[in-house]
Amino acid sequence: MHDSGLLLAIESSCDDSSIAIIDIKTKKLIYHKKISQELEHAMYGGVVPELASRLHAEALPKILEECRPYFDALKAVAVTNAPGLAVTLVEGITMAKALAVTLDLPLIGVNHLKGHIYSLFIDKETLFPQTVLLVSGGHTQVIEVKALNEMKTVASTMDDSFGESFDKVAKMMGLAYPGGPVIEKLALQGDAKRYKFTIPLQQKKIFAFSYSGIKNAVRLAVEAGSEADHADIAASFQEVASEHLVRKIKKYLVDHPPKNFSIVGGASANLYLRAKIQEMLKPYGATLSLAELKYCSDNAAMIGRVAVEMYEAGDFTPIAELQASPRAPL
Ligand code: KG4
Ligand code: ZN
Repeated sequence: MHDSGLLLAIESSCDDSSIAIIDIKTKKLIYHKKISQELEHAMYGGVVPELASRLHAEALPKILEECRPYFDALKAVAVTNAPGLAVTLVEGITMAKALAVTLDLPLIGVNHLKGHIYSLFIDKETLFPQTVLLVSGGHTQVIEVKALNEMKTVASTMDDSFGESFDKVAKMMGLAYPGGPVIEKLALQGDAKRYKFTIPLQQKKIFAFSYSGIKNAVRLAVEAGSEADHADIAASFQEVASEHLVRKIKKYLVDHPPKNFSIVGGASANLYLRAKIQEMLKPYGATLSLAELKYCSDNAAMIGRVAVEMYEAGDFTPIAELQASPRAPL
């Protein structure tokens, strides 16, 4: 079907089952499909790992079936192997290994966080250096990126992540999972100045983030108020959660002025945060890059985009060494 070589990539690190096929030479996305499990996890207010694993076992083969016409042109199989939920990572890894053996192809293990960074470059060439803010359900980090294998995390959260705090606030209010989009929407009707939640770590010099204090303050406000207060609480929470990121990053940028700045990860979809970061960057004249909305949350296209670079560098993983590393860093 295709003359050139293709690469198949699988993502199953959390609650999205996704497969992508990328043309190695042109780096163009040829096929991409994702089946999200949000509805199934919604009643629990968060991802239930065992349930997620079972749903991947159903969804991944269904998607793979659609990829059959491309099998003959495949040159490699890539899969997210770190970080993520152990029981869901293995679903993708097992499928990747089975494919690699059956079709006699090399394997490429991809770090999910690198995937989020490369979500900026789907169907595009890379642009470095980048100062990257990664905000997702599992991570809140600032990463200095010079190249694929030159990435340094300069700040991370000491407890909850940015996206996770939205999920928890939504759960406190009896709202749906994932909480990010729901809280963002509710906040539009609220007064962000009504509740004065404390901005974390203000007196501390360290470049790090913390969301557990805000979460507890919001819990008290929810318990003391009624449903009529939820919009104001959501708006005040979103304001302080975003302002916390901006204040810490602003201080860091004074000594590390960015050339290119980007926000990636599921929570980078938040328009309130985007506007605040845009404002923060004004004095630097730095470009702000964002992934297309459909590639902000977990997907295999970004994993495949990293994998084509690794393919070209000959960075393969022997089958016996490819294992899930749930807590691996960048
Ligand atoms: O990247 P992602 O799909 O999965 C992880 O790797 O964690 O991110 C999902 C997270 C969830 O916590 C979700 O609530 C959050 O991103 N999120 C948002 C928004 N959209 C998604 N958080 C704040 N505002 C949003 N608009
Ligand atoms: Zn993610």
